[in-house]
Amino acid sequence: MGLSIVILAAGQGTRMRSALPKVLQPLAGKPVLAHVLACSRKLGADDLCVVYGHGGETVKAAFPESDIRWALQAEQLGTGHAVQQAMPNTPATNKVLVLTGDAPLLTVATLKRLLAETPDDDMAVLTVDMDDPSGYGRIVRQEGGVKCIVEQKDTSAAQHNITEINSGVILCPGDRLKGWLNNLGTDNSQGEYYLTDVIAMAVADQVTVHGIKADTSVEVMGINDKKQLAEAERALQARLVDDLMKQGVGFADPARVDIRGTLKCGSDVFIDINAIFEGEVELGDGSKIASNNLIRDSKLGANSIVHSNCHIEGATSGADCEIGPFARLRPGAELANNVKVGNFVEIKKSTIADGSKVSHLTYIGDAQIGMNVNVGAGTITCNYDGVNKHKTTIGDGAFIGSGVELVAPVEVGPGATIGAGATLTKSAPEHRLTIERARQKSIEGWKRPVKKEPK
Ligand code: UD1
Ligand code: CA
Repeated sequence: MGLSIVILAAGQGTRMRSALPKVLQPLAGKPVLAHVLACSRKLGADDLCVVYGHGGETVKAAFPESDIRWALQAEQLGTGHAVQQAMPNTPATNKVLVLTGDAPLLTVATLKRLLAETPDDDMAVLTVDMDDPSGYGRIVRQEGGVKCIVEQKDTSAAQHNITEINSGVILCPGDRLKGWLNNLGTDNSQGEYYLTDVIAMAVADQVTVHGIKADTSVEVMGINDKKQLAEAERALQARLVDDLMKQGVGFADPARVDIRGTLKCGSDVFIDINAIFEGEVELGDGSKIASNNLIRDSKLGANSIVHSNCHIEGATSGADCEIGPFARLRPGAELANNVKVGNFVEIKKSTIADGSKVSHLTYIGDAQIGMNVNVGAGTITCNYDGVNKHKTTIGDGAFIGSGVELVAPVEVGPGATIGAGATLTKSAPEHRLTIERARQKSIEGWKRPVKKEPK
């Protein structure tokens, strides 16, 4: 039997108090809905449908992937009405798994279990026991399964005390679901078409409804406001860090790290507090990341040492490099092996070959630096003339003195030495000392001015 997944994402999310639709709020660096989609794609469905409405085109535009079928729910008349909008193009011969776009912590394992434990002709609801079930629909059981779901606002006193709740996830044969949805009414306290009313209809039609329990309530948590968004963020971070610790990655404090994307680590990597990883980041074997670092879309080689307070984006490095403290690597910074980039150094779109050092207070942009080069403190590649960018090339073994300005395009030959304070506007030949500075002189008999007495 084929599988259709229908994700409900049309709701307004008023409690977020945000111009951004609820399902686009960021969680671990991605929109909330992206997590639900990622999980869905691992279930082998042949049809993936998102019901959208509030925030319409913005939501659609955030997910250009071609495997999504979009169904518009122009007016939000309830969860049952939302599912109904997806039905016209849902194959009746498929099983339909309904997920909510605001429950991003659901795991593939739980949903696979739900699919595996539900016979094709039966129905299932994913439930969980909650200490505080307020706000959720209550699961009313009878022998052999679930009898019905009662929304909090419609509960009797006895039903109010039930602690098993509806996660919002249901699984149902497509043909039956279509039929039941057509018979939904709005005779309830909210005047909405409740998807949950389908359960009692199934029971009336002699279809068994399995109440399958999730392991933890965290997993089924729905995100409705900023507080829940923050709680979900911490829960997701804990999960990501747990996985990394199982792989052998060390953390000074698993609660003080943020992974907003994918972090791949080799063996014996250690990460100190307040490190933020965004996008795709890779850390080679034996790397050490000190406190307060932001690393985005970068790949650092084996035994990298990143000292505190660096900002690294779109950079790559080979083995045994040392970066920071207070260094900034911008997109296109490519360090080979054994390179040192020290404090208050900014590097953009430049390659630095093996064994070179740029240790202090320096800007390197659009440059190609050879092997074993020493760039002195306060060096600046003047790469921009106000209109165009130009390239600086420094040969192997060159030594650039402190406070040098390299006015690009310019070339420093291999083995060249540039005296401190030079402003190079012409290329410097290999193996020579090039100096560019006014001769130093001291003025005989010069007197320091003194303050005049007021008349
Ligand atoms: C729903 C369930 C409740 C369950 C809870 C779990 C119903 C009637 N109630 O309640 O039993 O415990 O979820 O979180 O189903 N949506 C639409 N269109 C609509 C209404 C909702 O797309 O017209 C979407 C929302 O965007 C959201 C999801 O459906 O992603 C759930 O809607 P919400 O209003 O949050 O339902 P609850 O009242 O929380
Ligand atoms: Ca909800």
